[in-house]
Amino acid sequence: MCSAVLSLGFSLSGNEELWVQSVLEMPKRRDILAIVLIVLPWTLLITVWHQSTIAPLLAVHKDDGGDSQRDLAAGLDSKEYCLSERDIVEVVRTEYVYTRPPPWSDTLPTIHVITPTYSRPVQKAELTRLANTLLHVPNLHWILVEDSQRRTPLITRLLRDTGLNYTHLNVETPRNYKLRGDMRDPRIPRGTMQRNLALRWLRETFNKNSSQPGIVYFADDDNTYSLELFEEMRSTRKVSVWPVAFVGGLRYESPRVNAAGKVYGWKTVFDPHRPFAIDMAGFAVNLRLILHRPQAYFKLRGVKGGYQESSLLRELVTLNDLEPKAANCTKILVWHTRTEKPVLVNEGKKGFTDPNVEI
Ligand SMILES: *[C@@H]1O[C@H](CO)[C@@H](O)[C@H](O)[C@H]1NC(C)=O
Ligand SMILES: *[C@@H]1O[C@H](CO)[C@@H](O)[C@H](O)[C@H]1NC(C)=O
Ligand SMILES: *[C@@H]1O[C@H](CO)[C@@H](O)[C@H](O)[C@H]1NC(C)=O
Repeated sequence: MCSAVLSLGFSLSGNEELWVQSVLEMPKRRDILAIVLIVLPWTLLITVWHQSTIAPLLAVHKDDGGDSQRDLAAGLDSKEYCLSERDIVEVVRTEYVYTRPPPWSDTLPTIHVITPTYSRPVQKAELTRLANTLLHVPNLHWILVEDSQRRTPLITRLLRDTGLNYTHLNVETPRNYKLRGDMRDPRIPRGTMQRNLALRWLRETFNKNSSQPGIVYFADDDNTYSLELFEEMRSTRKVSVWPVAFVGGLRYESPRVNAAGKVYGWKTVFDPHRPFAIDMAGFAVNLRLILHRPQAYFKLRGVKGGYQESSLLRELVTLNDLEPKAANCTKILVWHTRTEKPVLVNEGKKGFTDPNVEI
């Protein structure tokens, strides 16, 4: 371009030196101007392009584990660097931070979950965890029974805020329950009076002739429940049973099921000859059966440890009536998560260790 300007100057000019001189100088100034005009936009362009490429990179590095939302705006235009950040933000944007239970169905039987509870430092934490599980279960009615003189504001608020269908009851276990002259253990096992009150409430609330289908399940607040468990128990005709993990000093306890799919005994170490050697979390009862056997309650006194469940179940069914659930009692769907005793591995105890049972 420079030479083109010069040759044009020479061909047009005559012999005047001054003119030639100025012509020779002119292209120089023009040249500089041209260079500046050409280089400047390019410099600006490159700078801008360079920044937009670098900025998200810097943002990603600077922000590892930090506020991912703030840097999203800078990063939106260069997809290749920000794909992972966008994924995270999509999760953050999800509207249902906590949802109400699934819509009520007219066809599903209602599951009445009975939970006795008592005041202790972890009470609210345990009940919050349980409520979060129950919020996923359709047609669930939570009967929470406090072991207290009156219904506490803490539980009242907690229940109201869950959005669950619930009934809030209370009964205090007497400290020194003892009949005159009775030398047996005066203590009433924790939760017994509360579970019995819930059974009475059901009998007073539902007409035995009504065809309203329902299932009754005793769910303590310190266990962990699979959502699958609730759908397993929903089809209970009389009493359904399944294994429970981390109970009785074992990895799991379970009903013994024969090839015909019938319960014929119990895989337990502690007193397997109990009529129903089963944990409170290991069975569910059809509401109709509860209503038709109004005498069936948990015995308050004179019940040896581990016989609570039997004291109710023997009033309701025989071994032959039991319906094994959870793939014929080969799946663990409920865990005792606060174990008092160390859990044995069960090795060497014939019939107890099934490597196919996933815990
Ligand atoms: C509570 O139960 C009633 C039926 O008893 C039902 O109509 C209602 O939708 C339920 N509410 C929730 C939040 O599930
Ligand atoms: C249930 O029905 C029977 C007759 O079928 C009747 O005698 C009884 O009073 C009814 N019970 C209730 C609680 O309504
Ligand atoms: C349970 O066992 C019975 C009898 O062997 C069988 O018919 C049934 O399909 C089994 N159920 C499941 C869920 O595995």
